[in-house]
Amino acid sequence: MHIDRYERWYLYGAIALLLVFMLALAVSSFAFGIRVPAPYEKVDPRTIATPPSPWGLPEEERVRELAPGRYEAYVLGQMWQFTPKLITVPKGSTVTFYITSKDIQHGFKLSGTNLNLMALPGEVSVLTATFDTPGTFNFICHEYCGTLHHTMFGQLVVEE
Ligand code: CUA
Repeated sequence: MHIDRYERWYLYGAIALLLVFMLALAVSSFAFGIRVPAPYEKVDPRTIATPPSPWGLPEEERVRELAPGRYEAYVLGQMWQFTPKLITVPKGSTVTFYITSKDIQHGFKLSGTNLNLMALPGEVSVLTATFDTPGTFNFICHEYCGTLHHTMFGQLVVEE
C-alpha cells in the first residue's frame, strides 16, 4: 500500500504524540501518585437534610467554631437556594466548607476567591480557605439547575 511521504510523517508524529501522552500518564500516576479527585464522602441525598446529618441541623448550627478562628460550614444546595444563606466569620478565620446537594447538580463559587466546588447529590465536596480580608462575598450557583438558577446564592460575611 502506498502512503504519501507527508501523510506518513503525520502518522508517525501522531503515534509519537500518543506514546508521549501515555508515558506522561504513567509517570504522573505511578511515579508521582497523582489521582483523579475523589469525593470526600458518599452520602444519601434522601436523608441528607434530616438529623443526625449535619446538613439537617438548623441553619444557625451549621457553621461551627471548632477552635478559636477555625470553623466548619455545612452548606446544602437545593433548588433554588443554599442553606445556610448567610455565613458570618471574623477576619482571619479558616473555614472548611462541606458542600453537597439534596436534589440535583449545583455549583458553589465564592466570588472574589478561587473557591469553586461542585454540589452533587450523594457526594460531599470539601475545601478549606482562610479569610484575611473583611467584606461580603457572594457565593453563587454556577451550574445551570433550572428556572430559578440565577436566584441561587448566599453570602459570606468576613467581619473586622
Ligand atoms: Cu443551583 Cu444553579
